[in-house]
Amino acid sequence: MQLNLNNLTPAQFLAEYWQKKPVVIRQGFNRFADLLSADELAGLAMEESVESRLIWQEAEQWQAAFGPFESYDHLGEQNWTLVVQALNNWLPEAEQLARCFDFIPRWRFDDVMASYAVPGGSVGPHIDRYDVFICQGSGRRRWRVGDKGQYREFAAHEALLHTEPFEPIIDVELLPGDILYLPPLFPHDGVTLEESMSFSVGFRTPSTQDMLSAFADYVIDNQLGSMQITDPDRQPTMTPGCIDNDDLARIREQLMQALTDDAVSDFAGRLLSYSKCQLADNGAEADDLAEIRADEWLDVLQQQPLQRLGGLRCHYFEHNYRQGLFYLNGEMVRLPGECAGLIPLLCNEYQLDFACMRPWLEYDAVINLMTDWIVRGWWYFDELEE
Ligand code: SIN
Ligand code: CO
Repeated sequence: MQLNLNNLTPAQFLAEYWQKKPVVIRQGFNRFADLLSADELAGLAMEESVESRLIWQEAEQWQAAFGPFESYDHLGEQNWTLVVQALNNWLPEAEQLARCFDFIPRWRFDDVMASYAVPGGSVGPHIDRYDVFICQGSGRRRWRVGDKGQYREFAAHEALLHTEPFEPIIDVELLPGDILYLPPLFPHDGVTLEESMSFSVGFRTPSTQDMLSAFADYVIDNQLGSMQITDPDRQPTMTPGCIDNDDLARIREQLMQALTDDAVSDFAGRLLSYSKCQLADNGAEADDLAEIRADEWLDVLQQQPLQRLGGLRCHYFEHNYRQGLFYLNGEMVRLPGECAGLIPLLCNEYQLDFACMRPWLEYDAVINLMTDWIVRGWWYFDELEE
């Protein structure tokens, strides 16, 4: 899968469009093939661990239901859409698609969402707070996109936030391989013209509200908030009812004291590496792996590389990874400082082969952690011999 951004380099694309304006990228993927069949997608949406939604219209009324679904027999041949979140957690091909957009760092990435729709199917006109690259697979879909502005939003159904009609600035038919890039807050509506699949690579940032609320929990859990305002340099006041600018600065300073680089990165590392959707447990293989010993996987590593599980979030900070710290699936991991060079490999690469791992394999801490991650299925071998 080779991404072509209208012949722009990633740097040009980011400068021109990213977070600024929507754009249609014709043949962003040449000869793009669906990542899975409609039947396979429908099967996934029957699984308890997979997040899915059906959206349909019945007598002009919008309807929505959350999976898992037991059957699709009641749906007709028109006007419905099946959406599956976090396809990249289940399907290596969806993880491959996400990697095409790795010129944007992974902490900004949310998931790959798949959408299957029959003619007339749509989730309705709405506004997202996300950046998204909607990659059209089989079939055709008409997309209308409006300009950013003040639009009234309303619940067309309790699970569907829609927006009032908008004047389109883009009105196109997407064909297989075409991509529609949408920054946040541009209203849009995609209506399927013929049975169609699309794969949306979404990027998120948490809102200030979400960040502050999670940070407050972090400060409380780690007892980092006991500092009080001090004012030994106080001057007498003539306006006792006034909170003057010096005092406002003291209040701000108290809040800022909680926001050290270490506290912010430790908090954000956990928050951003946490996967909001369940990770695959690698099915039956998980049983074989439960007992795997270090000498066994080291043997296999000489033959084939370890693969990183799709959906596993793994980040480090430029400012402190040299101390051996990084964040994996919502937790901080501490390696011996002399193993810090392994961290960029773990977090930036999707395959680890024997040659790149070799310098680190003499450290017990690395062996023990890797064994644990392999048991969990977070790094795995494509083919594990019996
Ligand atoms: C869809 O793919 O069905 C809807 C995606 C979107 O508009 O965000
Ligand atoms: Co949308």
